[in-house]
Amino acid sequence: MSKSPIRVAITGAAGQIGYSLVFHVAAGQCFGPDQPVILQLIELPVALGALQGVAMEIQDGAFPLVAGIECSSDLREGFKDADVALLVGSKPRGKGQERADLIRGNGPIFIGQGQAIDAVANPNVKVLVVGNPCNTNCLIARHQAKRTNPRNYTAMTRLDQNRAMSQLATKSGAAIADIKKLAVWGNHSPTMYPDFTNAQIKGKALTETITDGEWLNGPFIKTVQQRGKAIINARGKSSAASAAWAAVEHVRDWFRATPDGEWVSMAVTSDGSYGVPEGLIYSFPCTVDAKGEYSIVQGIELDDTAKARIKASADELLSEREAVADLLG
Ligand code: NAD
Ligand code: LMR
Repeated sequence: MSKSPIRVAITGAAGQIGYSLVFHVAAGQCFGPDQPVILQLIELPVALGALQGVAMEIQDGAFPLVAGIECSSDLREGFKDADVALLVGSKPRGKGQERADLIRGNGPIFIGQGQAIDAVANPNVKVLVVGNPCNTNCLIARHQAKRTNPRNYTAMTRLDQNRAMSQLATKSGAAIADIKKLAVWGNHSPTMYPDFTNAQIKGKALTETITDGEWLNGPFIKTVQQRGKAIINARGKSSAASAAWAAVEHVRDWFRATPDGEWVSMAVTSDGSYGVPEGLIYSFPCTVDAKGEYSIVQGIELDDTAKARIKASADELLSEREAVADLLG
């Protein structure tokens, strides 16, 4: 018997990331080849014309899994009964800006969206915030969660994990698939910490294969932390297709059990693990069970340098939280 469709709301669906993301979702790359989807595409009124064009292109793709396409700039219409909400719509930074510089401009968007999601979405809706600064925007949206499950509000650091894995594969000559347990901790910002000390290549400690500690502690970490800026400098626009793909992987892996021995980086509500203050939206190594419930991996050994890096990113998120205290009503 065929499955009933799931409803996927995507904000900013006519933007750079949205334009790539909707086609992956339509093609079954998030929810599998037998899971029909109803796409609920949300845009600002000014972009509704462009959004109609995106909808026409989805139609022209004749995707067998697309059971409906709805376009709206009304949040309560757009998030109605959504099982998944991908919050992409917001301003990207330009050259010379940090992501945190977007906070006062983008932050308020997530109050209204959080309220609308809480009012009309599936109570178990799974929310992924992509719009920057994504950790704190997610915090703002989660503060509106009264009816919906606050645990299900997450932000995206999967792109950072993918960037780190790619750097490590290039350095070591290993295949991406051979690299496991590379997790990114913290804020999606220059303080993020890609922890190579617990990563593995072909089941052995990564540091047995990559013995250049100077590179790991220096250029490797810095490249991952600054990759978003490097893309903006090269392209004149922020990352889009790679970000869309990371969103697909985040959601895909949240809907299925993590294979044994693998971790995924997800920015989730801290429960105080590893000394990260409770309530912050913080990226941890996570696993997901067969019911689609994530858990923060426990018992990871961290050296003093790693602990200091993890704390620095948490401190930065505490400052961001202070800066938006008035948006957390
Ligand atoms: P974009 O400007 O190309 O597209 C954004 C779209 O969102 C536009 O079409 C705009 O009309 C729409 N929009 C703006 N405000 C909206 C609102 N309130 N409701 C609905 N739609 C709205 O930008 P982009 O390149 O697609 O980037 C989107 C966001 O994603 C930016 O904040 C960017 O910094 C962030 N981003 C995050 C990551 C990450 O790893 N977390 C990676 C890349 C980009
Ligand atoms: C990225 O990491 O590419 C995005 O967050 C965009 C940016 O502003 O860096």
